[in-house]
Amino acid sequence: MEIKDKEWWKETVIYQIYPRSFKDSNADGIGDLPGLISKLDYIQSLGVGLVWLNPIYASPNDDNGYDISNYEAIMPTFGTISDFNTLLVGLHARGIKLLMDLVVNHTSDEHPWFVESRKSRDNPYREYYHWWPAEKGKPPHRYSFFDKKGDAWQFDAATNSYYLHYFSNKQPDLNWENPKVRQEIYQMMRFWLDKGIDGYRLDAISYIAKDTSWPVLSKKEVKEKYDNDWSYFYAKGPKLHEYLHEMHLEVLSKYPDMVTIAETPGIEKEEALQFVHEDRQELHMLYHFKGMGLGYAKEGFKRPDPNGYSLPAFKKLYTEWNDVFSKEGWGTIYLGNHDQPRMLTRWGNDKPEFRVPSSKLLITFLLTMRSTPIFYNGDELGMANIKFESIQDYRDIETLYMYHYLQFQKGDLDQFIKDQQFGARDNSRTPFQWDATPNAGFTTSEPWIKVNPDHVYINLEAQDMDGNSPLNYFRHLVQLRKDHLELIYGEYKLYDPEHEQIFTYTRTLEKTATLIVLNFSDELVPYTIPKELHKKQFQLISNNETSLQQEGHHVTLLPWQALIFKLK
Ligand code: NOJ
Repeated sequence: MEIKDKEWWKETVIYQIYPRSFKDSNADGIGDLPGLISKLDYIQSLGVGLVWLNPIYASPNDDNGYDISNYEAIMPTFGTISDFNTLLVGLHARGIKLLMDLVVNHTSDEHPWFVESRKSRDNPYREYYHWWPAEKGKPPHRYSFFDKKGDAWQFDAATNSYYLHYFSNKQPDLNWENPKVRQEIYQMMRFWLDKGIDGYRLDAISYIAKDTSWPVLSKKEVKEKYDNDWSYFYAKGPKLHEYLHEMHLEVLSKYPDMVTIAETPGIEKEEALQFVHEDRQELHMLYHFKGMGLGYAKEGFKRPDPNGYSLPAFKKLYTEWNDVFSKEGWGTIYLGNHDQPRMLTRWGNDKPEFRVPSSKLLITFLLTMRSTPIFYNGDELGMANIKFESIQDYRDIETLYMYHYLQFQKGDLDQFIKDQQFGARDNSRTPFQWDATPNAGFTTSEPWIKVNPDHVYINLEAQDMDGNSPLNYFRHLVQLRKDHLELIYGEYKLYDPEHEQIFTYTRTLEKTATLIVLNFSDELVPYTIPKELHKKQFQLISNNETSLQQEGHHVTLLPWQALIFKLK
C-alpha cells in the first residue's frame, strides 16, 4: 500500500544511552565509549534503529556534559575521537544510526568563548553571551532552574556586569541574537554531520531566542500568564522560529537524510507544528513535557500526588498530542529519560508483584502509539528508582541546587528527600544493570553513583535467558511494530476515555486494524470490548501475561495486563 510522507525516522525505535552510566571499560567508575562499543551487539539485539547519545563532548561536568567547553572534542573520561569513530562505524555496520546531543542554548563557563567574553567589555567575544552592566542597577528578574537562589543573573566582578544563565552559573546562555554565534553553531553542526552522524537531539532549543529588551515580569504575570513556570516565558523568544528556519537552510537542508528531535520545554500543543510542520522548513520531530507534569502534587518540588495520576487525564493528554500530528508533522513519545525518574516507578508499579507486568504494559503503550518511541536505557529491563535516603548520595545539580534553594527558603528538607525518591533525575542515572555481580557488571571499581541494589534480580543476564522477561517482550514488540505498519502510520482512535483503569485504542491503516487494551491498575478488571468493534474477528497477537480470561467480547484483565488483537 502507498503511504504518504514515509520516512525512516518515523519507522524506527530510538534507544537513548546515558554514556556515563552504561558501561565502564577502564575501571574509573565512569561509563565510556570503549565500554559502549563492547555492548553494540546487545544494542543491535534490541532491534532499535537509532541511538541518541547524551553529550560526550569536553566538559567540566557541572551538569554531566550539558555544559560544553569544546564542541569538537570528546570528553577524555569518555575516550578519544578515534573511539568515537569506532563507535559510529560499529553502529552503522549494525544498521543503527546515531543522534548526538546538540547543546547550544548555553556553553560551559570554561568554554574559550566565555573565558574571553568575561575578560573585558570590549572583548571580541563579549556579544557571544548576554551581559547586563551593573551601573544600570539589577537586571529584571529571571529564574534559573539550577541556582541556590533561583536567580538567572550572575554578577561577574571582572567587568562589573551580570551574565544570564537559565541553568547553572557554569552554563551561561549563548547570545543567539548575534549572527556570529549562530554561524559558529552551524559550522560545528556540520563538523559532526560531515563525520557521518545521522542527526541531533536539540537540548532546550525552545529557549535559545531571548527578548533582549529584557521586560520586567511581575510575579503576578508569571503566575497568571505562564502558570508560574518560567519555561513558558522562555519558550516565547521573539525570533525563535526565524533562527530555526535559518538553521534548516544552513545545515539541515544540506543533509537530507538527517533527523532532528527538538527538546521543547514550555511548548503548548497549539505551538508544536510551528517547529515540525513540513512546509515551515524547521525541524523534524519534537518532544514535549506535558505528560511529565502528571502525577505530581500541586505543591512541593516533584512531590508525588498521593492518588497517583489519573488514567483519564493521561489518556486525554496523549490523545490530544496524537491529534496534533495526525495529519501534519510528526511526534515522539516517551515516558522516561535522563531528566525523569524511572518510567516503571513513575507510571507503572515497581513492587515485586507488579514490576514485570507493568514494565511490559508501558513498553506496549510506547510501541503501539502513533509517534516515534524513545526508550531510555534500562527501561527495557524494568529498572526502577533507587530512592536514595540521603542527600549525600545525590550527584545531580538539579537535586543539589534545589536542596540549597529550599535551605535558603527555610523549606522542609526531609519532605524534599522523600519527594526526590520519586522524582529525582538521579533515579534514572544509576548504572545499567548488566548482571548480578557487586557493581552490576558496570564497573570493577567504585561507580560514580551507587548501583541499585535490586540489580541482583533485575539485570540483563537473567532477563536474556528468560522468555517472559521485560527484555524479551521489548524485543518482541519492537519486531511487532516493524511487522505491522498500522502501528506506525495507522490512525489512532481512543475508546472509553473515562474508564479509570483501562486504556483502549485502535490503530488502523486502510483495512488493517489493531486493537490495544491496557490495564493500568493493580487490580483484576472485567472489561467489555467496545460495541463498535464487535463486528470484527479478534485474533490475539500479543499478551504480556501467560493466561487470558476471555468469553466472547468479555475479558478479565490481570493487573497491568496488556493485550494486542489483530482485527479482521
Ligand atoms: C535539558 C537536558 O536534558 C538536561 O539534562 C540539562 O540539565 C538541561 N537541558 C540543561 O542543558
